[in-house]
Amino acid sequence: MSDSVRINPSILAADFVNMQAELARIAAADFVHVDVMDNHFVPNLTFGPQMVERIQATSPVPLDVHLMITDADRWAPGYAELGAASVTFHLEAATDPIGLARRLRQIGARAGVAVKPATGVDSLLDVLDEFDQILVMTVEPGFGGQSFMADQLSKVSRLREEVRRRGSQVWLQVDGGVSASTIAQAAEAGADTFVAGSAVFGADDPDDAIAALRQLAVGAHRH
Ligand code: DX5
Ligand code: ZN
Repeated sequence: MSDSVRINPSILAADFVNMQAELARIAAADFVHVDVMDNHFVPNLTFGPQMVERIQATSPVPLDVHLMITDADRWAPGYAELGAASVTFHLEAATDPIGLARRLRQIGARAGVAVKPATGVDSLLDVLDEFDQILVMTVEPGFGGQSFMADQLSKVSRLREEVRRRGSQVWLQVDGGVSASTIAQAAEAGADTFVAGSAVFGADDPDDAIAALRQLAVGAHRH
Protein backbone atom coordinates (compact mmCIF):
# COMPACT_ATOMS: atom_id res chain seq x y z
CA MET A 1 0.00 0.00 0.00
CA SER A 2 1.28 3.48 -0.76
CA ASP A 3 1.61 6.19 1.84
CA SER A 4 -1.17 8.08 0.21
CA VAL A 5 -4.11 8.54 2.54
CA ARG A 6 -7.23 10.61 2.23
CA ILE A 7 -8.86 12.65 5.00
CA ASN A 8 -12.51 13.45 4.29
CA PRO A 9 -14.19 15.70 6.88
CA SER A 10 -17.90 15.04 7.39
CA ILE A 11 -20.06 18.15 7.22
CA LEU A 12 -22.58 16.43 9.46
CA ALA A 13 -20.55 18.08 12.24
CA ALA A 14 -20.51 21.50 10.50
CA ASP A 15 -22.85 24.45 11.02
CA PHE A 16 -25.60 23.81 8.46
CA VAL A 17 -26.62 27.47 8.15
CA ASN A 18 -23.04 28.60 7.49
CA MET A 19 -22.10 25.87 5.06
CA GLN A 20 -20.11 28.04 2.68
CA ALA A 21 -17.89 29.33 5.51
CA GLU A 22 -17.58 25.81 6.94
CA LEU A 23 -16.43 24.45 3.58
CA ALA A 24 -13.77 27.16 3.43
CA ARG A 25 -12.32 25.92 6.76
CA ILE A 26 -11.33 22.52 5.31
CA ALA A 27 -9.18 23.47 2.33
CA ALA A 28 -6.64 20.78 3.33
CA ALA A 29 -9.23 18.01 2.92
CA ASP A 30 -9.05 15.52 0.06
CA PHE A 31 -12.83 15.25 -0.24
CA VAL A 32 -15.73 16.68 1.72
CA HIS A 33 -17.89 13.85 3.09
CA VAL A 34 -21.59 14.58 2.62
CA ASP A 35 -23.97 12.42 4.69
CA VAL A 36 -27.40 12.09 3.07
CA MET A 37 -29.96 10.54 5.46
CA ASP A 38 -33.63 9.86 4.71
CA ASN A 39 -35.08 9.12 8.16
CA HIS A 40 -35.87 5.63 6.91
CA PHE A 41 -32.62 3.76 6.27
CA VAL A 42 -31.34 5.54 9.40
CA PRO A 43 -33.30 7.30 12.16
CA ASN A 44 -32.07 10.76 11.17
CA LEU A 45 -32.69 13.25 8.40
CA THR A 46 -30.21 15.60 6.77
CA PHE A 47 -30.72 16.85 3.21
CA GLY A 48 -31.22 15.69 -0.36
CA PRO A 49 -30.11 16.47 -3.90
CA GLN A 50 -31.00 20.15 -3.88
CA MET A 51 -28.70 20.90 -0.95
CA VAL A 52 -25.98 18.61 -2.30
CA GLU A 53 -26.14 20.43 -5.63
CA ARG A 54 -25.45 23.73 -3.84
CA ILE A 55 -22.60 22.19 -1.86
CA GLN A 56 -21.19 20.85 -5.12
CA ALA A 57 -21.36 24.33 -6.64
CA THR A 58 -19.77 25.97 -3.58
CA SER A 59 -17.14 23.55 -2.32
CA PRO A 60 -13.52 24.01 -3.40
CA VAL A 61 -12.97 20.36 -2.47
CA PRO A 62 -14.58 17.44 -4.39
CA LEU A 63 -17.59 15.67 -2.86
CA ASP A 64 -17.63 12.21 -1.26
CA VAL A 65 -21.37 11.57 -0.94
CA HIS A 66 -22.45 8.89 1.57
CA LEU A 67 -26.04 7.86 0.95
CA MET A 68 -27.82 6.45 4.01
CA ILE A 69 -31.07 6.04 2.13
CA THR A 70 -33.32 3.21 1.01
CA ASP A 71 -33.91 2.45 -2.65
CA ALA A 72 -30.36 3.39 -3.58
CA ASP A 73 -30.82 1.95 -7.09
CA ARG A 74 -33.34 4.67 -7.78
CA TRP A 75 -31.72 7.68 -6.10
CA ALA A 76 -27.94 7.27 -6.22
CA PRO A 77 -27.44 8.07 -9.94
CA GLY A 78 -28.89 11.56 -9.42
CA TYR A 79 -26.02 12.42 -7.08
CA ALA A 80 -23.50 11.34 -9.70
CA GLU A 81 -25.35 13.40 -12.29
CA LEU A 82 -25.09 16.57 -10.22
CA GLY A 83 -21.32 16.18 -10.31
CA ALA A 84 -20.28 14.48 -7.06
CA ALA A 85 -16.79 12.99 -7.47
CA SER A 86 -17.72 9.93 -5.41
CA VAL A 87 -21.08 8.36 -4.56
CA THR A 88 -21.31 5.62 -1.91
CA PHE A 89 -24.54 3.68 -1.35
CA HIS A 90 -25.25 1.03 1.27
CA LEU A 91 -25.05 -2.63 0.28
CA GLU A 92 -28.12 -3.22 2.49
CA ALA A 93 -30.13 -0.67 0.49
CA ALA A 94 -29.40 -1.75 -3.08
CA THR A 95 -31.07 -4.56 -5.01
CA ASP A 96 -28.38 -4.65 -7.72
CA PRO A 97 -25.14 -3.28 -6.20
CA ILE A 98 -22.91 -4.15 -9.15
CA GLY A 99 -25.35 -2.77 -11.71
CA LEU A 100 -25.66 0.41 -9.66
CA ALA A 101 -21.88 0.80 -9.31
CA ARG A 102 -21.49 0.39 -13.07
CA ARG A 103 -24.14 3.05 -13.63
CA LEU A 104 -22.38 5.49 -11.26
CA ARG A 105 -19.07 4.97 -13.07
CA GLN A 106 -20.75 5.40 -16.43
CA ILE A 107 -22.05 8.79 -15.29
CA GLY A 108 -18.51 9.71 -14.25
CA ALA A 109 -18.43 9.29 -10.46
CA ARG A 110 -16.32 6.98 -8.34
CA ALA A 111 -18.59 4.20 -7.12
CA GLY A 112 -18.59 3.27 -3.44
CA VAL A 113 -20.37 0.62 -1.42
CA ALA A 114 -20.85 0.80 2.36
CA VAL A 115 -21.56 -1.83 5.00
CA LYS A 116 -23.19 -1.36 8.39
CA PRO A 117 -21.55 -2.98 11.44
CA ALA A 118 -23.75 -6.10 11.24
CA THR A 119 -23.06 -6.68 7.54
CA GLY A 120 -20.16 -8.87 6.44
CA VAL A 121 -17.84 -8.18 3.53
CA ASP A 122 -17.46 -11.72 2.15
CA SER A 123 -19.84 -11.05 -0.74
CA LEU A 124 -17.59 -8.16 -1.85
CA LEU A 125 -14.29 -10.04 -1.97
CA ASP A 126 -14.87 -11.51 -5.43
CA VAL A 127 -16.16 -8.27 -6.93
CA LEU A 128 -13.75 -5.69 -5.44
CA ASP A 129 -12.92 -4.12 -8.75
CA GLU A 130 -16.54 -3.28 -9.47
CA PHE A 131 -16.08 -0.52 -6.88
CA ASP A 132 -13.72 2.43 -6.37
CA GLN A 133 -14.28 2.54 -2.62
CA ILE A 134 -15.54 0.21 0.10
CA LEU A 135 -16.77 1.93 3.26
CA VAL A 136 -16.65 -0.07 6.49
CA MET A 137 -18.82 1.77 9.02
CA THR A 138 -17.14 2.01 12.42
CA VAL A 139 -20.33 3.21 14.11
CA GLU A 140 -24.02 2.43 13.56
CA PRO A 141 -24.88 4.93 10.80
CA GLY A 142 -27.15 7.85 11.64
CA PHE A 143 -25.32 10.18 13.98
CA GLY A 144 -21.97 11.87 14.46
CA GLY A 145 -20.03 11.86 17.71
CA GLN A 146 -20.36 8.14 18.49
CA SER A 147 -17.58 5.84 19.75
CA PHE A 148 -15.33 4.04 17.29
CA MET A 149 -16.10 0.30 16.97
CA ALA A 150 -12.65 -1.30 16.81
CA ASP A 151 -14.20 -4.73 16.21
CA GLN A 152 -15.05 -3.59 12.66
CA LEU A 153 -11.36 -3.49 11.74
CA SER A 154 -11.22 -7.22 11.08
CA LYS A 155 -13.36 -6.49 8.01
CA VAL A 156 -10.87 -3.83 6.90
CA SER A 157 -7.96 -6.26 7.33
CA ARG A 158 -9.77 -8.94 5.37
CA LEU A 159 -10.49 -6.50 2.55
CA ARG A 160 -6.90 -5.18 2.59
CA GLU A 161 -5.53 -8.70 2.30
CA GLU A 162 -7.73 -9.34 -0.74
CA VAL A 163 -6.91 -5.95 -2.30
CA ARG A 164 -3.20 -6.80 -2.02
CA ARG A 165 -3.67 -10.30 -3.39
CA ARG A 166 -5.53 -9.06 -6.43
CA GLY A 167 -3.54 -5.84 -6.93
CA SER A 168 -6.85 -3.97 -6.74
CA GLN A 169 -6.99 -0.16 -6.72
CA VAL A 170 -10.12 0.10 -4.56
CA TRP A 171 -9.92 2.53 -1.62
CA LEU A 172 -10.84 1.28 1.85
CA GLN A 173 -12.71 3.88 3.86
CA VAL A 174 -13.70 3.99 7.53
CA ASP A 175 -16.40 6.30 8.89
CA GLY A 176 -17.50 6.90 12.47
CA GLY A 177 -15.55 7.79 15.60
CA VAL A 178 -12.35 8.45 13.66
CA SER A 179 -10.10 10.76 15.70
CA ALA A 180 -6.47 11.28 16.70
CA SER A 181 -6.86 8.42 19.17
CA THR A 182 -8.40 5.88 16.74
CA ILE A 183 -7.06 6.66 13.25
CA ALA A 184 -3.75 4.80 13.65
CA GLN A 185 -5.43 1.47 14.40
CA ALA A 186 -7.69 1.89 11.36
CA ALA A 187 -4.67 2.67 9.17
CA GLU A 188 -2.76 -0.31 10.57
CA ALA A 189 -5.69 -2.55 9.67
CA GLY A 190 -5.42 -1.27 6.11
CA ALA A 191 -7.79 1.68 5.74
CA ASP A 192 -6.50 4.43 3.45
CA THR A 193 -9.47 6.81 3.41
CA PHE A 194 -10.77 8.34 6.63
CA VAL A 195 -13.97 10.21 7.39
CA ALA A 196 -13.91 12.44 10.46
CA GLY A 197 -16.74 14.71 11.54
CA SER A 198 -16.45 15.91 15.12
CA ALA A 199 -12.66 15.42 15.19
CA VAL A 200 -12.29 17.99 12.40
CA PHE A 201 -15.15 20.46 12.83
CA GLY A 202 -14.91 20.31 16.63
CA ALA A 203 -11.28 21.48 16.47
CA ASP A 204 -10.27 25.14 16.79
CA ASP A 205 -8.55 24.90 13.43
CA PRO A 206 -10.06 22.20 11.18
CA ASP A 207 -7.16 22.35 8.72
CA ASP A 208 -4.68 21.67 11.55
CA ALA A 209 -6.82 18.73 12.67
CA ILE A 210 -6.79 17.34 9.12
CA ALA A 211 -2.98 17.65 8.97
CA ALA A 212 -2.61 15.91 12.34
CA LEU A 213 -4.91 13.04 11.32
CA ARG A 214 -3.05 12.67 8.03
CA GLN A 215 0.30 12.45 9.79
CA LEU A 216 -0.98 9.77 12.20
CA ALA A 217 -2.42 7.70 9.35
CA VAL A 218 0.71 7.92 7.22
CA GLY A 219 2.85 7.07 10.25
CA ALA A 220 0.77 3.97 10.94
CA HIS A 221 1.15 2.78 7.34
CA ARG A 222 4.95 3.02 7.63
CA HIS A 223 5.03 0.46 10.47
C1 DX5 B 1 -22.57 8.65 10.60
C2 DX5 B 1 -21.96 9.37 9.42
C3 DX5 B 1 -20.60 9.85 9.67
C4 DX5 B 1 -20.49 10.88 10.78
C5 DX5 B 1 -19.16 10.72 11.42
O1 DX5 B 1 -23.73 8.02 10.20
O2 DX5 B 1 -21.92 8.51 8.30
O3 DX5 B 1 -20.03 10.37 8.47
O4 DX5 B 1 -20.61 12.20 10.34
O5 DX5 B 1 -19.08 11.57 12.51
P1 DX5 B 1 -17.96 11.39 13.63
O6 DX5 B 1 -16.64 11.53 12.94
O7 DX5 B 1 -18.26 12.50 14.57
O8 DX5 B 1 -18.15 10.03 14.23
ZN1 ZN C 1 -20.74 9.14 6.54
